[in-house]
Amino acid sequence: MSLSLAFKSIISSQAIRNSLNPSLIGIQRRFQSNEFKNILTEVRGKDKNIGFIQLNRPKAFNALNAELMTELEQAVKKFDADPSIGCIVLTGSNRAFAAGADIKEMQNKSFSEVCKGNFLSNWTALAESKTPVIAAVNGFALGGGCEIAMMCDIILAGEKAEFGQPEIVIGTIPGAGGTQRLTRVVGKSKAMEMVLTGDRISAKEAQLYGLVSAVHPVDNLVDEAVKLAERITRHSKLTVQLAKEAVNSAYETTLAQGINLERRLFHATFATNDRKEGMTAFVEKRKPNFTDS
Ligand code: HXC
Repeated sequence: MSLSLAFKSIISSQAIRNSLNPSLIGIQRRFQSNEFKNILTEVRGKDKNIGFIQLNRPKAFNALNAELMTELEQAVKKFDADPSIGCIVLTGSNRAFAAGADIKEMQNKSFSEVCKGNFLSNWTALAESKTPVIAAVNGFALGGGCEIAMMCDIILAGEKAEFGQPEIVIGTIPGAGGTQRLTRVVGKSKAMEMVLTGDRISAKEAQLYGLVSAVHPVDNLVDEAVKLAERITRHSKLTVQLAKEAVNSAYETTLAQGINLERRLFHATFATNDRKEGMTAFVEKRKPNFTDS
């Protein structure tokens, strides 16, 4: 049995959990971390396999300052490297997912400072995660907040969510993928309208344009995101990773290149135990027992 499977069976037993010895308590603490100042992290889901990250600067509407972004990068990389984690959920508060990069922090920066320091170049951890990431967006997702939501694989929105790229209003433009990812998702005309006016769109409109996959009541949103994450984690982690790579390639390649890559990745699943197990389980009319191998 792998270490992660062993750990899952340990924590699923309440009786054993009550008699945890100090070393096991140490392992469990890893999943309920207060090691960060601007975000909260914990492990959720019935099988404790969902990495949960909550942006937590409520007084600043979760404005994304350098310290928060460094912490977010560390948390995403840690969950991504953890074999027991099959999906990550990223959320904010009911009022704000994130109201953008921290304007107070940027206010006095000079061109040479941001250029020489390559400001924003470290905002890539979410987009680089091999583990699927679901953004659960309640409230404002503006500027950098909309941009980090778009770095995630799936966006679910609460009914009162609002999305926008209002940088133009403060004399700048999107700098973490807003002009690129938004345009690929909603098309040139709507992206231009949003980027050139700074106007926000509602959750319903965001769903209409394909920016979000579903809209839920505010209070249910996080639970729905965790449920969706759990549905993903039922499958082979290895196959999920290949499927995610194939979908993401649609944004990077020509159609012919993407179709070729997809076919090769499909072929590659025939080198895995999980492809054999999945098909065998279907034929034998039973549930598959994936081993992520
Ligand atoms: C720093 C921010 C902030 C931000 C809100 N706050 N957004 N602080 N950076 N991006 C702070 C406010 O200063 C205030 O704190 C508190 O949060 C509440 O905000 P209010 O404005 O008082 O609330 P409200 O009237 O309800 O308006 C909410 C809002 C508005 C619509 C979200 O705050 C707003 O327009 N924020 C800026 C949105 C924006 O322009 N985002 C893009 C940023 S540029 P105090 O202490 O003052 O009361 C960007 C660049 C992207 O993201 C480039 C790549 C990342």
